[in-house]
Amino acid sequence: MTEAAPEALKGEDWAGDMGERWLASLDRFEGMIAPIGAALLAQADYQPGERVLDLGCGGGATTLAIAEAVGPMGAAVGLDVAPMLVERARQRAADAGSAARFVCADATTAVLDEPPFDRLFSRFGSMFFADPVPAFGNLRGLLKPGARIDLAVWANPRDNAWMMEVMGVVRRHVDIPPRRAARAGAVRF
Ligand SMILES: C[S@@+](CC[C@H](N)C(=O)[O-])C[C@H]1O[C@@H](n2cnc3c(N)ncnc32)[C@H](O)[C@@H]1O
Repeated sequence: MTEAAPEALKGEDWAGDMGERWLASLDRFEGMIAPIGAALLAQADYQPGERVLDLGCGGGATTLAIAEAVGPMGAAVGLDVAPMLVERARQRAADAGSAARFVCADATTAVLDEPPFDRLFSRFGSMFFADPVPAFGNLRGLLKPGARIDLAVWANPRDNAWMMEVMGVVRRHVDIPPRRAARAGAVRF
């Protein structure tokens, strides 16, 4: 994870415009990536009592699922930089009577006032750091030594037909800069 984020992802304003856009179409976006979340949750196989940090949790759908898996003796904490998404996530947790908790902070610098986590999870919330090294350095400090990390990240566009179809159409009208190499990730789609 030493490579900087692709230019297209750098500096995306998730606490502002991007967060508002994600929130405006929350159900649609979550519906699109639901199968990936399900696959990642199945791989993670959370057990009762585990403490799990959900990085870039967005509207908190996966955090709620994790809270159910880890039960009352565990902890599911969603961390996100976008206040409007954290607000929605908290509302959902309250509506569902879920014990999931949410923190609004930038994962690059976040300091959490609680014990370290056993596990780190993220469905497409780990790809936006301008410089991943200090960001993951900070995240490491929030985890127990040996903590397991389960991430879903996009792989090469060539491996994703839906990206290539769209790019094909866009290329007919716009000059696209050269593609950067894919970055590391635990589960790649
Ligand atoms: C593509 S959305 C995925 C949301 C959620 N994981 C899901 O699957 O529904 C990316 C999320 O990462 C969050 N994010 C981006 N940069 C972040 C940062 N530096 N610290 C914390 N969260 C961040 C965004 O606010 C956004 O909610």
